[in-house]
Amino acid sequence: MSSLDNKKILLGVTGGIAAYKSAVLLRALQAAGAEVRVVMTSAAQAFVTPLTFQALSGHPVYTELLDPGQEASMDHISLARWADFILVAPATADFIARVANGHANDLLSTLCLAATVPIALAPAMNQGMWLNVATQGNIETISGYGYQLWGPDEGDQACGETGPGRMLEPEALLAKVMDFFAPGPLQDVSVLLTAGGTQEPIDPVRFVGNRSSGRMGYALVEAMRDLGAEVTLISGPVSLLPPTGIEFHSIQTAQEMYAEVMARASDCNIFVAVAAVADYRPGEVAKEKIKKRNDSLSLEMVRNPDILADVSALDDAPFTVGFAAETEQVEAYAEAKRLAKGVDMIAANQVGTSEGGFESDRNALTLLWEGGRESLPMMNKSQLARQLADRIKTHYLKVENARNEN
Ligand code: CTP
Repeated sequence: MSSLDNKKILLGVTGGIAAYKSAVLLRALQAAGAEVRVVMTSAAQAFVTPLTFQALSGHPVYTELLDPGQEASMDHISLARWADFILVAPATADFIARVANGHANDLLSTLCLAATVPIALAPAMNQGMWLNVATQGNIETISGYGYQLWGPDEGDQACGETGPGRMLEPEALLAKVMDFFAPGPLQDVSVLLTAGGTQEPIDPVRFVGNRSSGRMGYALVEAMRDLGAEVTLISGPVSLLPPTGIEFHSIQTAQEMYAEVMARASDCNIFVAVAAVADYRPGEVAKEKIKKRNDSLSLEMVRNPDILADVSALDDAPFTVGFAAETEQVEAYAEAKRLAKGVDMIAANQVGTSEGGFESDRNALTLLWEGGRESLPMMNKSQLARQLADRIKTHYLKVENARNEN
């Protein structure tokens, strides 16, 4: 059985000379078992006719937004919901600019805006257009939105120039689609994560918070998702977009995070507590804004529940992973925390130094588990998250296998 059996793929074709290769791609996707529907922009139709794709796919090709005839067979929202995956190949500079700006002025851009499934773009354009700062800015923007970018390749171009901007060949694009659908090592494993900081209200306009950016947690969510896990993220307020392809719940306070986690903890296989949870909250939240009347103000703080410790203490506890941010005696304090909270693995990092930590893009971690340790050196947070996800996977599977043998 091919990894594309029963997969519904929407193939978007925009107006570049590489559009003729999309006909080969369509055939290859179908031969691998996928069900494919084609959407063309008007510029694409200047290169290849819809009839070519209709004849090859055996289905009408969608070209118009709000055309009563086409909407009758499948309206644009149903088409967006029908797909398991959207691949736009070729994706021109203009199309990339339009999705970067959230345009919905034709059928394909509207589908990209309406879709909740993963979307990959295979850029194809002149090398100067690809290298232009405007295109590069748009690429950065759409990567931040969660679009996958496949290519471009370097080499001879149809315009006679040489450089980056060629669409990846149909075989390479097919391999990427197959990779995308290939079952990951954590298939059927559910992972619950907390990330970001919590905000503990003082009055209707103020709160006690912390500097957590959520970057490490969000990067780990993506890394676990890419290993094939079903991921649920419970996140405090951060300025990051929720990763695609996961279940997402946003909370403000530690108590809300506690409730969301405990409702799901017994049903997950792995729990990773990345959040910087406030250990204390104001005992009473003033109903009205507190006015400045006196020279000093005292707040009585009360302890918040420890989410990680309580999940670890469950009878049917999942494999648990915690974080420990320490300024000194990092390993000793982290190991004490691991034992005190009954956690399977703890990821310790040094904070208060010039590099790494909450607001930085980079970090280093020391992983500690029963009878073992490993250091992951200073690197950017998304690389570090991938390495950490890999170690969590390895230790979880080891514990699971041992449990199954007994
Ligand atoms: N954690 C949690 N719930 C809390 C507090 C912390 O789940 N109420 C989790 C964090 O997500 C992290 C780990 O526990 O995985 C951090 O442990 P913690 O004891 O809170 O660290 P510190 O606050 O740094 O502890 P201390 O001040 O004692 O060093």
